[in-house]
Amino acid sequence: GEAAEGRGRGKLILFGEHAVVHGYAAVACGLPLGAVACVRRGHSESFRVDHPAGSFEAEGKVLEAARGIVARFGLRLEELDGFVRLEVPVGAGMGSSAALAVALARAAQKLSGRGDAQTVEEAVSFAEGLFHGKASGIDQSAALGGGVFAFKRDGAGGPPTIEPVRAPTLRLVVAQVAPSASTAEMVASVSALAERRSSTAAIFEAIGQVATEGRQALEAGDLQAVGELMNINQGLLAALGVSIPAIDEACRLARDAGASGVKLTGAGGGGCVVALGPDEATTRAIQEGWEVRGWPVYTFTLES
Ligand code: PMV
Repeated sequence: GEAAEGRGRGKLILFGEHAVVHGYAAVACGLPLGAVACVRRGHSESFRVDHPAGSFEAEGKVLEAARGIVARFGLRLEELDGFVRLEVPVGAGMGSSAALAVALARAAQKLSGRGDAQTVEEAVSFAEGLFHGKASGIDQSAALGGGVFAFKRDGAGGPPTIEPVRAPTLRLVVAQVAPSASTAEMVASVSALAERRSSTAAIFEAIGQVATEGRQALEAGDLQAVGELMNINQGLLAALGVSIPAIDEACRLARDAGASGVKLTGAGGGGCVVALGPDEATTRAIQEGWEVRGWPVYTFTLES
């Protein structure tokens, strides 16, 4: 039969990780890369996930998520022949799981002709809940929508506030400098620090302010200010104890190469760094500097 295709986007957090968990604003963006799901009616024993570093057959939570997603569109995974191709690394803070869930839900919606945008969102919430427990929802918003957006959790447990941010063209370079740490563990260690040291509240507050100023700088098209604020954000994340030597080294290399700004992105303790390049040539220099260190590098131009 006919194959149906669906896409979901990866994401990057530009400002505000960790503080966002404690109720402060963050800024993130959907990426042009993410996941592509392809399904047709048929039969298969397994569901394959291809990704930049290899391929695996869905099992455990991934399989449970895939089953639950297609079930919301009246489909049974066993009666489908399909796969997902991830264009972003798995578990690196680039939103691979939400991208996968959105891609599969959209493909299932197309194939079945059932459900609407809300069914897709509900299927993705279910999958993200399985993968991440109580996730902030940033990944899901990016995977569904894309673009640059401001994100704030609702203190009372209601839906988050999500507002689009008009940004100039952004040349971003991302490197995975170390294996990713567990987001849940990093969030727990920062929360434990906050309980021991009340001065940590001032760091969250400052990160929230950096995110707010970062948003204003984006809307004003002031890339130099955006970069400066990324550097401040990195310093504050280091103060929370979530930077590691490889992240510090990647930041130094990028700044030496002329980056406007650079910081870790996601939970820290490993994972990815993101640099903002002022122009094409500098962006290439940052990329080359990181590739020499052997880190996988992804470059994105987000058009305004
Ligand atoms: O590494 P990621 O993409 O799971 O991002 C973590 C961001 C945190 O603020 C640390 C946690 C969260 O749920 O927002």
